[in-house]
Amino acid sequence: MHIDRLERFWLGAVAAMLGSFMAALIASVVLFGVSLPSPSGRVDPTRLDATEFANPGLRSDGGSRYTLTVVGRMWRFDVGQRTGQPAELRVPAGSEITFVATSADVVHGFQVEDHNVNLMLIPGQISRKTAVFDQPGTYRILCHEYCGPGHHTMVAAVVVE
Ligand code: CUA
Repeated sequence: MHIDRLERFWLGAVAAMLGSFMAALIASVVLFGVSLPSPSGRVDPTRLDATEFANPGLRSDGGSRYTLTVVGRMWRFDVGQRTGQPAELRVPAGSEITFVATSADVVHGFQVEDHNVNLMLIPGQISRKTAVFDQPGTYRILCHEYCGPGHHTMVAAVVVE
């Protein structure tokens, strides 16, 4: 069988490119801990008051561990604070926060600045992700999914002291 020189070159180039894509994918998973956010549970979005989302907010789990329950709704992150919007959650440096979140209405985004937390808040689905906050500072929580005219006001913050 005859394979042209140019044909051989492009076959090799395509194989090398696919190989480097696969290597980058494997490196992102193995070395950098990137994972697709998968739903960690289901909840009836019309009856959140009867679930763990009835009283959202920051809870201490003992030591430096916290759980933050969040309900995304148009257009704020409900973390149990009725006043002082946007909400600020204060934790000491070195804290580990597990975010447990869902949406009460439409699809919202949930991204924590400078940390590996990037979730979708989808009605009916519970999203969960843990992050460690070592450095003091203010880290905004942003909605990165367009959810209506108040989308840009949907913000909260983790303040590490
Ligand atoms: Cu919620 Cu954009």
